[in-house]
Amino acid sequence: DEVTRVDQLIGRMTLEEKAGQMTCLADSFRPFNPPNPQVGIQDEKRLAEEIRKGRVGCLFNGIGVAGARRAQEIAVKDSRLGIPLLFAGDVIHGLKTIFPVPLAEAASFDPRLAERTARVQALEATAAGLHLTFAPMVDVARDQRWGRVVEGAGEDVTLGSLFAAARVRGFQGRDLRRDDSLLACPKHFAAYGAVAAGLEYGSVDISDETLRETHLPPFGAAFAAGALTTMAAFSEINGVPATADRDLLTNLLRGEMQFRGFVFSDYTADEELIAHGYAQDERDAARLAVLAGVDMSMQSGLYIKYIPDLVKSGAVPMGTLDVAVRRILYVKTALGLFDNPWRSLDEEAEKSRIATPAHRALAREAATRSVVLLQNDGVLPIDPGKRQKIALIGPFGEDRANLYGPWAFYGDPDKGIDIATGLRAALPDPALLTVEKGCDIARPIDGGIARAVAAAKEADIVLLAIGESQDMSGEAQSRTVIEIPAAQQALADAVAAAGKPVVVLLRHGRALALHEGVANASAILATWFLGSEAGHAIADILFGTADPSAKLPVSFPWESGQEPFFYDRKSTGRPTVGNGATEYRARYATTDNSARFPFGHGLSYTDFALDQLKLSDTALRWDSAIEVTVRLTNKGKRKGSEVVQLYIRDRVASRTRPIRELKRIERITLAPGESRTVRFSLSRTDLQFVGAGNQRIVEPGVFDLWVGQASEGGLKAQFTLYAEAGKG
Ligand code: IFM
Repeated sequence: DEVTRVDQLIGRMTLEEKAGQMTCLADSFRPFNPPNPQVGIQDEKRLAEEIRKGRVGCLFNGIGVAGARRAQEIAVKDSRLGIPLLFAGDVIHGLKTIFPVPLAEAASFDPRLAERTARVQALEATAAGLHLTFAPMVDVARDQRWGRVVEGAGEDVTLGSLFAAARVRGFQGRDLRRDDSLLACPKHFAAYGAVAAGLEYGSVDISDETLRETHLPPFGAAFAAGALTTMAAFSEINGVPATADRDLLTNLLRGEMQFRGFVFSDYTADEELIAHGYAQDERDAARLAVLAGVDMSMQSGLYIKYIPDLVKSGAVPMGTLDVAVRRILYVKTALGLFDNPWRSLDEEAEKSRIATPAHRALAREAATRSVVLLQNDGVLPIDPGKRQKIALIGPFGEDRANLYGPWAFYGDPDKGIDIATGLRAALPDPALLTVEKGCDIARPIDGGIARAVAAAKEADIVLLAIGESQDMSGEAQSRTVIEIPAAQQALADAVAAAGKPVVVLLRHGRALALHEGVANASAILATWFLGSEAGHAIADILFGTADPSAKLPVSFPWESGQEPFFYDRKSTGRPTVGNGATEYRARYATTDNSARFPFGHGLSYTDFALDQLKLSDTALRWDSAIEVTVRLTNKGKRKGSEVVQLYIRDRVASRTRPIRELKRIERITLAPGESRTVRFSLSRTDLQFVGAGNQRIVEPGVFDLWVGQASEGGLKAQFTLYAEAGKG
């Protein structure tokens, strides 16, 4: 069987071959070269030699079947033990067909959509020779200054866990041995989304309870869905870099969380232990990482360089090595690589399974369902039949370089649909559209504002396409303020003064703090980075071919300075009480500590109303459940979808609890005039929190409950959880 096969192989391996299996290097066999060419082996001949000697077990960030086949042939036919290589890469929101950035897709509040798009990403990635993607990023992002907010599912643990599991299911499919199954690597373990002040690569100082309550559950959900690898975070937690943290990577991850796969380091993160001030030198760094539980070293080459000698000298036990190698070989076995090293290396699939019209159609559907309507005074949808003149103003109107967002480096930017192209395709007469750039993303252009204002005056409606460039979010893109860049804000303010209805089309990879000409627009759409079909999807929404139905996965604050800001914050002893009292309250001197647009917010073109909130009982017995029902009615004139959201608050507990916590979401589509009763069931386990001793506990007492259309407002009820004798 497979266990024996792996054990027999380990028995025959030299120390160097073991360290080789634990080494992952950037792939120089294939057309795409990694972003950091000065590190690692960039020369194909040298890499071939390393593979032949069994000194590398995994290649990453290259795509293409021909190159992968060449590399695999060397591994399987020319190396002493013939152990197949693993091919990995960052397929974060698409290979050639680019889907909305993960944050945007989370706005659909529909994990099933993410599962479908992840499946298509897997079809394309495996057709290009990959076995594994360094995704999904499941870090819960608590500070919008952090650039990597864009790669995850936002600020909430429940939404994050649902999307984490869905994406793993989608990438991996039902059977890991199939050649279209793409192994997932939920990352970055752990609490990377809690770096202080949103500073990329920064430090995390966090309680055990918050770590377990907020940051670990999405990993747990991803592992439960079958993920067999994870990646240690670049950051340190409580003074120990994650890459060297045995408590984290072994005791917690493997002991407490029962993770059974293998752990990658992040890119050269073992070497970076020196800069952290945690390791003396390279050799010490390799020793600390392997002892902590990093099984596969990414890109530094430190493992192959130092591990054989570290074992010979007794600094690292052979047993530690064997455990790591066993984990890696087990994953290769699970993928069926020993039986078929040529899996996912099919030239025919490479031609037929990438960038198909069906994938493109899904990209359009996903993009349309990711757009959040933040405000609307009735200007939207635009009726193209009325033949109104439209001025498309701003640096993103005709721009294809910023459609995809970060981490889409295999996609061809020329194949994306920009906003102007999407609008022209939808208008009865393309001459109804004029386009003015107005300014560059970060700089004014000579006469730009004057031309834009003139165009606005000529038009009936202005579409203002402004926001962040795609390299303003993603790795290493933390910002101190989360505002529209100054040149564009000046453009927006000048255009607003022209007095025409303005529809803002935001381009962004995080929540933004919006001001004046932007904030006061007639309508605002959060359009993120929507991918290949961005322009078509935006046109679908603007002209009402599709109804906006997405919800914010991150809160939009009033000001940057409120960050870190999230809806499930604590009450404090001096909450603002909603009756106008602001003195000596937990608020900023000039800004209330609330959201401009809260988590869960998102409008539709139709009008939904909730009523008849009922609880089957206001007493929840220890081992039973309560049914919560509510009626949703479409009171408008159009078909539309609403996401009904259920939140709770534990009124009194031994650790203070957030003012609200999301517990359930349900997406409902209704025809005009139609009503439906939505049902939720809640039991004791939904009320758990991490208490003393890191145990998940439930405490009897009173709970508030809201069912609503956002994390603010909604219908309210209360129930009481009663303990039973001897329990609780
Ligand atoms: O997967 C990524 C990770 O998220 C950040 N550093 C580089 C890795 C590989 O490209």
